[in-house]
Amino acid sequence: MQNLSAKIIGVGMSVPEKRLTNFDLEKMVDTSDEWISKRVGIKERRVAEENEYNSTFATAAAKDAIEMAGLTPEEIDFIIVGTTTGDTAYPSVACIVQNNLGAVNAAVVDVAAACTGFIYGAGIAWSMIKSGLMKNILVIASEVNTAMIDWHDRDTCILFGDGAGAAVFTATEETGTGVLSMELGGDGSCQELLVMPNSGSRKYTNPDGTPMMRAIQMTGNEVFKNAVRRMNEAALAVLKKAGLSNEDVDLLIAHQANIRIIDAVAKRLKLSPEKVYINIQKYGNTSAATIPIALCEAVQEGRVKSGDLLVVDAFGAGLTWGAMAIRWA
Ligand code: UT7
Repeated sequence: MQNLSAKIIGVGMSVPEKRLTNFDLEKMVDTSDEWISKRVGIKERRVAEENEYNSTFATAAAKDAIEMAGLTPEEIDFIIVGTTTGDTAYPSVACIVQNNLGAVNAAVVDVAAACTGFIYGAGIAWSMIKSGLMKNILVIASEVNTAMIDWHDRDTCILFGDGAGAAVFTATEETGTGVLSMELGGDGSCQELLVMPNSGSRKYTNPDGTPMMRAIQMTGNEVFKNAVRRMNEAALAVLKKAGLSNEDVDLLIAHQANIRIIDAVAKRLKLSPEKVYINIQKYGNTSAATIPIALCEAVQEGRVKSGDLLVVDAFGAGLTWGAMAIRWA
């Protein structure tokens, strides 16, 4: 069998126009711009309008990624969407995007790994391409988190935003280029730390028997500690698997959930600030979409050059985590 790998040849992103600033949130809950900026690093987030769906952003991000890749929609073999906030349980977002794009030859699936959805999707794409089964795979991550928020809960409503990012992976025979290694993990024993009740078939009730609201519930500081530990371990694992060290990293693109989590991971990896990509201040936590949105902006800003070693690193509900080492083509 040929020695195949997968490289990224196109990226795209799309976020809602509507902005919700920390000052707007000050009028809604007992919080402050100072607290949010200092404790989380967010200044504003984007919020979908009623007539904008998960698939709206997923499709727009995908169009840009395919155009940059220089492919036609018909050349896409597989569309994988990392999401837990799809338009509907079914059809999948991937199915809707396929129809919107006219990607008639593509297989379609959504991957539910919460904030790690893009890395899990990219992992599936890498293995399908590596095995020779498929050539061009579109991996999207898209979320409309603001539909799942209790706007009275200051613990969570300040954190999340909406948007989508996409990347086209294609087969390459060049050695040492594209995806070099991957680490995926999960720990279902910590499932209670981050839950979205009444988002599936199980019925959750309050102590008085009334239905619980479908809104993100999080034990923030426990999630925080797990995030730092697992993202650090995942980054080290992919470097080791690729025969590289932290000194080889040119850019860390970590899940944008909290600036203090990213700083803690970067510190453990001994990375200087210019080797760490941060855009949480503009979009907040867009769950699975933070990594491809950050990757797209990093590429557009010229922060990623041919030959650079990127580490993408995510963590989310489940618990789930994952990382990839990628040599930019
Ligand atoms: O994407 C999936 C992964 N998600 C994450 O990784 C998120 C991980 N967790 C976090 O980022 C942080 O735990 C949070 C940002 C959610 C919370 O920050 P924290 O530093 O862990 O704060 P805390 O929950 O320990 O609360 C500290 C204080 C409390 O007040 P007291 O008890 O010290 O008087 C809270 O009531 O801050 C208070 N607080 C707030 N104050 C102003 C909590 N939320 C707010 C708020 N505005 N929005």
